[in-house]
Amino acid sequence: MTVPKKPRAAKKPAAAVQTLAEQPSQPAAVAQQLAPAITRSNVPGTDLFDYFASNNGRLIFKWMHYFDIYEKHFAQFRNRKIKFLEIGVFHGGSLQMWKNYFGPQAEIVGVDINPHCKTYEEDGIKIEIGSQEDRGFLRDLAAKYGPFDIVLDDGGHTMTQQIISFEELYPHVRRDGLYVCEDLHTSYWKEWGGGYRKANTFIEYSKQLIDQLHAWHSKDPESFNVTAFTQSAFGLHFYDSMLVVEKRLITPPFSRATGTPSF
Ligand SMILES: C[S@@+](CC[C@H](N)C(=O)[O-])C[C@H]1O[C@@H](n2cnc3c(N)ncnc32)[C@H](O)[C@@H]1O
Repeated sequence: MTVPKKPRAAKKPAAAVQTLAEQPSQPAAVAQQLAPAITRSNVPGTDLFDYFASNNGRLIFKWMHYFDIYEKHFAQFRNRKIKFLEIGVFHGGSLQMWKNYFGPQAEIVGVDINPHCKTYEEDGIKIEIGSQEDRGFLRDLAAKYGPFDIVLDDGGHTMTQQIISFEELYPHVRRDGLYVCEDLHTSYWKEWGGGYRKANTFIEYSKQLIDQLHAWHSKDPESFNVTAFTQSAFGLHFYDSMLVVEKRLITPPFSRATGTPSF
């Protein structure tokens, strides 16, 4: 099945997705229609996917395999008093989905460059208008709402947008929180500033985060040292088009042996 590409900005969505959003609530029929794209937990019976498949409200636009990843990482935050930030509001449907999924204690914040998105505010959902490339705007945002339990970047997906947002907002993710960047495939698309192994794409930038994760083991302190990222990142989970950074307080790793030697 050809999966529709997500839009760069507030473009008209692909027809297949519009059709879904306009359909009456028929989770089974919609799931059937999406069957070739269904993987593991994004099958009927899981809350997020069921919500998406039966969505009759505001439009939501997600790649199908993302639901599996969301369930895996986000489930632990449900029904807790959390702050969830999504960059990229579009038609407002995903913010309503997060509100439903995380429960009434969650504070959902959306960011978009399109001023019309402000009209999608409702109880439990705040929306700020500004650009994710604007460091001043992001700093004000973090001061007003941070720290966040989860930051999800589903905005314009250009290289500078993804890198600036990560640099400004990762420090404002709570210990034990998550930073998620979506649509990493734009790192391979020229129109978004990408290109295979091209310098300064988000993919190349995040490869350096893999180095930083391992800096505890550096034998080359001149060029490779422990950073704030090394001390705060427990794991980098790379999926097709998505990076999930799992934050924790990290202390220098050590190893121990137990049991009886056999030689
Ligand atoms: C892919 S859509 C978001 C989809 C939405 N999260 C969903 O799941 O339905 C991308 C959104 O990012 C917004 N956007 C584009 N450039 C932006 C920027 N520089 N800062 C903030 N938002 C931006 C667009 O206006 C558009 O609404």
